[in-house]
Amino acid sequence: MKIAVLKETAPGETRCAATPETVKKFTALGAQLAVEAGAGAGASVADEDFAAAGASVGTREQVIADADAILCVSGPDAAALARAKPGALLVGALDPLRRGEAVQGYATAGLEALAMEWMPRITRAQSMDILSSQSNLAGYKAVLEAGAAYGRAFPMMMTAAGTISAARLFVMGVGVAGLQAIATGRRLGAQVSATDVRSATKEQILSLGAKPIFVENVAGIEGEGAGGYATEMSEEYKQAQAELVSSHIAKQDIVITTAMIPGRPAPRLISDAQLATMRPGSVVVDLAAEAGGNVEGCVPGERAERHGVTVIGASNLARSLAADASALFARNLYNFLSAFWDKEKGAVALPDDDEIVQGIRLTRGGTIVSERLAQG
Ligand code: NAI
Repeated sequence: MKIAVLKETAPGETRCAATPETVKKFTALGAQLAVEAGAGAGASVADEDFAAAGASVGTREQVIADADAILCVSGPDAAALARAKPGALLVGALDPLRRGEAVQGYATAGLEALAMEWMPRITRAQSMDILSSQSNLAGYKAVLEAGAAYGRAFPMMMTAAGTISAARLFVMGVGVAGLQAIATGRRLGAQVSATDVRSATKEQILSLGAKPIFVENVAGIEGEGAGGYATEMSEEYKQAQAELVSSHIAKQDIVITTAMIPGRPAPRLISDAQLATMRPGSVVVDLAAEAGGNVEGCVPGERAERHGVTVIGASNLARSLAADASALFARNLYNFLSAFWDKEKGAVALPDDDEIVQGIRLTRGGTIVSERLAQG
């Protein structure tokens, strides 16, 4: 099986879908790797490093010409894959709901497109989950961004010149990114509190040494839905949450929001009026900015000063940790493809009746086959 690794072309993309480590692992399985020249540059991996790991290095046309699988971070335009072999797998974050035209293009080109962000949340697929691996890094980086913008220190410091009090950091949404933000805030010495709609997160917050802030005594407060994701909450809950948040965030120095609901815009958690109650000099980082934003008026990739508060619309923070983000992303792809490696054929075989394959397969044999895409 021949596997090509693309150099990313999306603006601002720094990551790479393979590393020398995964090249070696794929080679050990019996695959032949071909890496597009410069593919690892954004992640500090030189072409020579890929070559030393056993890959050939060439132009895009050369690497995709006879590839049976093409690995990418962000899905390229279908035109960029015009020379690919019909039937080749295209594996990466293909953003199918927002890139309908590209997905149609993959179908027309006869490619078998596999959207890694649609990996089902089942135990067997944990090591293949690109959303988790990248969110984890984003949660960490969000705290560093907040710390850099904050004009005070995080830990309590007792100095000869007097005491500096610890920063109060509030995490809203305790999924993968939120948990890492709590852990990072704690390591830096902040006083951390956190909230979520899923009551299972209460234990997790406590186990990280942070304080849970939860809406109590409201009917239907269990916010956990299919696949461990959150559900949309009742109006009564939203009202109670808004009141709780108002009284809590007025006392916070840093707020990191990460709340998302699959298939829906991110829930609005902080209004402009609530921002105005925060102390001047406070910092809010909205990790859900690209999904519609948890903070009113927050723009992805932009930093604004509102009521004396710095509001940062985070945009794909994992990209700013390109080497680690690539290492984890590349392992996610390796873990997926190697799990379906057919030793006799010396190639990947994807069974039609497998839950993972059904979840992520978008196109095959010239048509769109994804049920989720068909449903819109
Ligand atoms: P996410 O990115 O969809 O959402 C982030 C967090 O926001 C979630 O914890 C969600 O409950 C919370 N949230 C949503 N609406 C909210 C609101 N109105 N107020 C406050 N918080 C709100 O979630 P993520 O990080 O992708 O993980 C969700 C769950 O899936 C976790 O329990 C995680 O452990 C689980 N998971 C399971 C995997 C597997 O089994 N393969 C892989 C990855 C995650």
